[in-house]
Amino acid sequence: MIIGKPLLTTRQIQVKVKELAQNISKDYVGKEILAVGILKGSFMFFSDIVREIEVPLTLDFILASSYVKSETSGEVKIHYDIREDISDKHVLLIDDIVDTGITLNQIRERILSRFPLSLKICTFLDKKERREVDIPLDYVGYVIPNQFVVGYGLDYDNKYRNLPYISIFRKKA
Ligand code: IMP
Ligand code: MG
Repeated sequence: MIIGKPLLTTRQIQVKVKELAQNISKDYVGKEILAVGILKGSFMFFSDIVREIEVPLTLDFILASSYVKSETSGEVKIHYDIREDISDKHVLLIDDIVDTGITLNQIRERILSRFPLSLKICTFLDKKERREVDIPLDYVGYVIPNQFVVGYGLDYDNKYRNLPYISIFRKKA
């Protein structure tokens, strides 16, 4: 296993997080957000961005899984879901990366079926080329090439989530 040089450095991550948070803060002036982090991948991005958002906010998480090692299984399992009533909430879903879009699309439909006041999606990374399901993304950090990445919350087999930067993952040199 090789972790090469960063695709996105800690500095590039910080700059983008601030920029996204500023846009979100502007768009939600006068409103309160229910920020929902999609675990586990978004844990680092989530904790960074909520600290930069300047409108009132409550938070919750959804724990979902669809990946086995670096292959998507296509099957999305929800292990933990938002419990509260969301019919009076402006829900902002926060995810690490959108790849095929299958996971987020299922989560999105699940939330919409509970009639929130509004629903928007923020993802740090967008692997656009791989998209199989069309899903509206309101806030996107970086569009990245079709390569498997780790770090800043993203894992391979649950490892490397703690890297403070994002790197392309290669099984062999
Ligand atoms: P999707 O359902 O194919 O869009 O997959 C979304 C989920 O798969 C993401 O939220 C990640 O947890 C995981 N994932 C997709 N691509 C990568 C990657 O390059 N590295 C690590 N995890 C990934
Ligand atoms: Mg994820």
